[in-house]
Amino acid sequence: MRSELLNAITAVNDSAALEAIRVRALGKSGTITALLKTLGGMSPEERQVKGPEIQELRLAVADAIAARKMALDRAALDARLQSETLDMTLPVGAAATGSVHPVSQVMDELAEIFADLGFAVATGPEIEDDWHNFTALNIPETHPARAMHDTFYFPDAEGREAKMLLRTHTSPVQVRTMLTQKPPIRIIAPGRVYRADSDATHTPMFHQIEGLVIDKGIPLGHLRWTLETFLKAFFERDDIVLRLRPSFFPFTEPSVEVDVGYSIEKGRRVIGGAEGWMEVLGSGMVHPKVIAACGLDPEEYQGFAFGTGVDRLAMLKYGMDDLRAFFDGDLRWLKHYGFRALDVPTLSGGVGA
Ligand code: PHE
Repeated sequence: MRSELLNAITAVNDSAALEAIRVRALGKSGTITALLKTLGGMSPEERQVKGPEIQELRLAVADAIAARKMALDRAALDARLQSETLDMTLPVGAAATGSVHPVSQVMDELAEIFADLGFAVATGPEIEDDWHNFTALNIPETHPARAMHDTFYFPDAEGREAKMLLRTHTSPVQVRTMLTQKPPIRIIAPGRVYRADSDATHTPMFHQIEGLVIDKGIPLGHLRWTLETFLKAFFERDDIVLRLRPSFFPFTEPSVEVDVGYSIEKGRRVIGGAEGWMEVLGSGMVHPKVIAACGLDPEEYQGFAFGTGVDRLAMLKYGMDDLRAFFDGDLRWLKHYGFRALDVPTLSGGVGA
């Protein structure tokens, strides 16, 4: 019985057949179980001899079954792993229809351009408090700029001191960065912003990118060079002409609005040249009051900041004319304007390539 069972166990090739052998030998009415039952009817002397023999047989068969089961399970797993392999190095097939949204692509392009100039990417919360979005930026409670921003406020909650809102611009990231980092500071902060406004050129949610440089001895000329270098890299043209106009923002002094020159090619406006001017950026030297509100000494530190619309930059570069379509999720639009997942912008390859 012993050799018959052990041979059968070695010969078996699937776990169902192995289980059948187990039931046949060790199950309720199995052959070894039946042998064990004969012990009760034996004389004590006979039992002392037969008992260990039968137990040894039971253990040997149980062990053999367990070992065989482990081997069969491992072989089954190996076979499954073989048949279910996924080759991660295979090129993305025709079935992959997803695309990178132009806003994401442009943000990647901007991060690439500014990384080369030594800027890190900073972030801040979209749900802001009144202090970071306005007060610290030299926009006090009574300032008309608060009304200008068409702010989405949250209802006042009991026990909450600060008024909460959806940030109306990325400028609060300037404040958060100055509060937590020591100069020299060179950051950009891309992200979503919100204003209660909606037409062909405004959506309640849109994207901005903020830039901030704080150090010792930073003159306005650095701002101009930085913006010119950035816009040349972004539009991939050397004939980018900037026009700086005096303007007003509560958090910069002096404030500068930046126009970029365009020319008409085949009836279309293209960036480059100087046939006409398009406003692209708000900027200026960070107001001493903002620097002081962030705990730095404005006598020691100064710098510049700028802010611009990412969606608008995307429209100017890639030719879309309706901002609302950016956020409709229309697959036809995404197929047309989207980027392939592997079109990672690099300076060497051309950021928009
Ligand atoms: N935050 C300003 C806006 O949303 C843009 C800006 C940023 C202007 C930084 C100057 C400096 O219009």
